[in-house]
Amino acid sequence: MARRKPNSVNLRLGVSLPNLCDATPQAFRRITEYVAINQALGERMDSFELNKIAGAILFTLLVYLGVQNLGDVLFSPKPANPNAYIVEGVVEEGAPVVASVAEPVVPISELLQTASIEKGVKVAKKCVSCHSFDIGGANKIGPALWGIVDRDIAASTGFNYSSALSGKDGIWDYEALNGFLENPKKYATGTNMAFAGLRKVKDRANIIAYLDSLKD
Ligand code: HEC
Repeated sequence: MARRKPNSVNLRLGVSLPNLCDATPQAFRRITEYVAINQALGERMDSFELNKIAGAILFTLLVYLGVQNLGDVLFSPKPANPNAYIVEGVVEEGAPVVASVAEPVVPISELLQTASIEKGVKVAKKCVSCHSFDIGGANKIGPALWGIVDRDIAASTGFNYSSALSGKDGIWDYEALNGFLENPKKYATGTNMAFAGLRKVKDRANIIAYLDSLKD
């Protein structure tokens, strides 16, 4: 006796294409089992057809689940940093007291104690296209830097400084150099020094140590 041919995939699988969006992992398993059973039974023509349909559903389901997961991957919200937006001095009732998370600002003079002149020479490679570090060195695109530490700001003879620097009072002490070298444009708005700055405080400490060694 011929086996009754199912009139729709729906009957066997309990899942129809329009309902695919509701497909659960159970339905997914049922489809897989169905395909496996059919293959085991060795059915030919009609089951072959059916397998194709089941395969198509399986594929659609995979794509659907894949897209869903991709969505999760792309848009999964990160848990908020519990330390964010903590305003000092404001303690919510019942809230645990969280220690301040701000990085301690180490004064540059302290960092200089462990700075390396050798490493500073390497950092200076970023400056040599514009500056001479040699004793008696000439001004180039930028002023000569021999003896710059504790020298007056904008004091290299014969160099045409911008008003951003020539209008500044004071000397190039460690703090001033640290501020200028971190972000020249911010420290001296309008400066001609076309240099992005040294973002790493270690780099700045090392180059300042090197600059500090450039004196008689
Ligand atoms: C693209 C060229 C350029 C580079 C690179 C550059 N500088 Fe300068 N620098 C200048 C110019 C130009 C000035 C003068 C700025 C002004 O007048 O506003 C200057 C000024 C300075 C001054 C002030 C000097 C004074 O006599 O007041 C210091 C200090 C200095 N640079 C250090 C450095 C260090 C250290 C580096 C490397 C980390 C560096 N610069 C990289 C062009 C450069």
